[in-house]
Amino acid sequence: MTTFLRSSDAPAADIAAGPWALIPPLRPHEFRRLRDLLYETCGIRLRAGKEELVRSRLGRRVVDTGAPSFAAYLDRVERRALHREFAELGALVDALTTNQTAFFREPAHFDFFRANVLPAMAHGARPIRVWSAGCSTGEEPFTIAVLMREHLPPDRFAGARILATDVSSRVLARARAATYGARAVTAIPATLRRRMLDVSSSGDRFVVREELRAMVRFARLNLIREWPLRGPFDAIFCRNVMIYFDAGARQRLVERFWHMLAPGGHLFVGHSESLGTLTHGFHYVQPAVYVR
Ligand SMILES: C[S@@+](CC[C@H](N)C(=O)[O-])C[C@H]1O[C@@H](n2cnc3c(N)ncnc32)[C@H](O)[C@@H]1O
Repeated sequence: MTTFLRSSDAPAADIAAGPWALIPPLRPHEFRRLRDLLYETCGIRLRAGKEELVRSRLGRRVVDTGAPSFAAYLDRVERRALHREFAELGALVDALTTNQTAFFREPAHFDFFRANVLPAMAHGARPIRVWSAGCSTGEEPFTIAVLMREHLPPDRFAGARILATDVSSRVLARARAATYGARAVTAIPATLRRRMLDVSSSGDRFVVREELRAMVRFARLNLIREWPLRGPFDAIFCRNVMIYFDAGARQRLVERFWHMLAPGGHLFVGHSESLGTLTHGFHYVQPAVYVR
C-alpha cells in the first residue's frame, strides 16, 4: 500500500509555529475514519504512521471551521455530503493530496509523443483529442499543448483539444489561472519558453499564451467515480496518479482508459506505475507507454 503524503511534505515551520498548538489531537479512531473517507472518496490509501502529517495538513482547516475535534469535523463533512454539499469534502481532499508536477516532467514521454504520436496525429480526419487525467496545476496539459502547436500542421492544430481533469478544485483553479513562477518555467526548454509564455502584468510571473490556454478545457473529475465524458481520445496521460490507488482501483481505471482510447491511441502512465501486474488489452511500447 502506498500513501499520498510524502514525509518531505511535513511543514516543519508550521509545526513549530503557534497555530499548531490550537489543533486538536488526531485520535486513532479519527485517523481510521479519515483514512476510510479518503479511500471511499478518491481511492487514495493513507498508510498508518502518517498521523502527525495528516494532523498538520488538515488541522488548520479543522480549526478554521470551528470544529472542536477531528471527529466533529468529520461529522460535519459527512453530514454535508449526505445533503450533496461537497465543498468541505473537497477541502479535506485538497488538504491531504500531493499535487507535485512540472513542465516536461518525465521528458522521455514527451520525446516519444513528439517523435511517434504527433506525426501520426498529423494525418487523421477526426479532430485530435488528448486527456490529461490528474492534471494538477496544469503543467502537464500545457506541455502537451505546446508540443501540439509546434509539431502539428496548422489545420490539425486548429481543431485539437485537450481535456485536463483533476479531483481537486484548488489545483484546477491554479491551472485555469495558467500563471507560473520563474522557477517552474525553467523546466521548459529555452527555445520554447518565449513561444509558450507571456510575462504577467505584474512583471514577475509567466502566463501561458492564449492560443495554448484556449485549447485546454479544465474540469473536475474523480477518476474512481462516473466519467461524464465521451471518447474516443487519441492519447491519455494519467501519470503519477494511480500510484496512490490500490490494485483493484488501478485495474478498473486501466480498463476504462482502454475503452476511452481510439484504436492505436496511447496511454502514458508515470514511470513508477507499470501495468505489469494488471490484466489489460494494451500493447507495451516502452517504459510507461502503452498503445491500444
Ligand atoms: C502527483 S499529481 C500528478 C500530476 C501530473 N499528472 C504529473 O505527473 O505531473 C497527482 C494528481 O492526481 C490527482 N488525483 C488524486 N486522486 C484523484 C482521483 N481520484 N481523481 C482524479 N484526480 C486525482 C491529485 O489531485 C493530483 O493533482
